[in-house]
Amino acid sequence: MIERTRKKAKRLVSSEEATEETSVQEGQQDLTLRPQKLEDYIGQDEIKKNLGIFMQAAKKREESLEHVLLHGPPGLGKTTLAHIIAHEMGVNIRVTSGPALEKQGDVASIITNLRDGDILFIDEIHRLRPVVEEVLYTAMEDFGIDLIIGKGPSARSMRLKLPKFTLIGATTKMSMLSSPLRDRFGTLFHLDFYTPEDIEKILHRSAQLLDIKMDEDACAKLARSTRQTPRIANRLLRRVRDFAEVHGRVRVDLQTVEDTLSALRVDALGLDKTDREILKTIIEKFQGGPVGLNTIAAATSEEEDTVESVYEPFLLKLGFLERTPRGRTVTRRAYEHLGIPYVKV
Ligand SMILES: Nc1ncnc2c1ncn2[C@@H]1O[C@H](COP(=O)(O)OP(=O)(O)OP(=O)(O)O)[C@@H](O)[C@H]1O
Ligand SMILES: [Mg+2]
Repeated sequence: MIERTRKKAKRLVSSEEATEETSVQEGQQDLTLRPQKLEDYIGQDEIKKNLGIFMQAAKKREESLEHVLLHGPPGLGKTTLAHIIAHEMGVNIRVTSGPALEKQGDVASIITNLRDGDILFIDEIHRLRPVVEEVLYTAMEDFGIDLIIGKGPSARSMRLKLPKFTLIGATTKMSMLSSPLRDRFGTLFHLDFYTPEDIEKILHRSAQLLDIKMDEDACAKLARSTRQTPRIANRLLRRVRDFAEVHGRVRVDLQTVEDTLSALRVDALGLDKTDREILKTIIEKFQGGPVGLNTIAAATSEEEDTVESVYEPFLLKLGFLERTPRGRTVTRRAYEHLGIPYVKV
């Protein structure tokens, strides 16, 4: 387990949030870079527009916002958006995660301590235990929790009234969410990968906040290698700055970006060693597929979950990988990108 964590922390293109082993300084910088207002949140225009309307309407009616479910690959801004909602609504936010809620009582004690309108943010909501999920149903729907008081024949059930809180759930794996839970959310937002133009804007904003001077062409080049993911964009920006500093360059120029990317073995599309390994394994060992997820995970010594939620979404987005009922297949485009002759079997 420790080995696994280390491996993740070392990998630059991982979409994982800063782990304990990432430096404290980087963690703090992530917080500085996190936009706090909806207007500073770049891209995802449709979500921003709709969310803006829902928040305005709720405020006007002096009601709490309906429960919101955010889903999409890691590093695209779900947690950021939850904090922005709290900020814009002018309410408190309490942050927890699916696996952290062990007992029904955990949910009860957190929610009873909230005020009307406050937000409960549950990250990785697909990992809730069934017993906990069950109390959430009534909490979300009727703002109440049924408690059993006493034992044996004298036991009776009592309904505890809860404040009108707003639940914001975040998940990278929508398919693992049960439908009763999904149905209790008033709004569902799917976060998609960012356009290169939006990533450029994010890089500009972050560079300004971190006082990094960067040439236009360098920024454009970097934007194209960030897997269209803001977290990776910010992380690569810091690495590029390191390179510039060590080489005594005052500005980040195109050469610095190219040197950094090649040193980190990140290619022009933002794929790293593991992405290429996944594709090559399917091509070389399984004639391009179809092959099951568990086999890919075993062959590349990554966890199934990591392959599915961290690597696959972007490879699917690029059209390099296809999901079929019989497993994953590598497409012709991926062969071309890797420079491997395409042989149809
Ligand atoms: N729209 C955006 N505009 C500017 N910066 C952004 C945007 N979205 C995300 N970021 C930056 O990317 C970082 C990662 O975002 P965030 O932590 O919200 O992702 P996440 O979707 O919650 O990921 P995970 O699924 O791993 O929890 C943030 O610290 C923030 O600096
Ligand atoms: Mg998050």
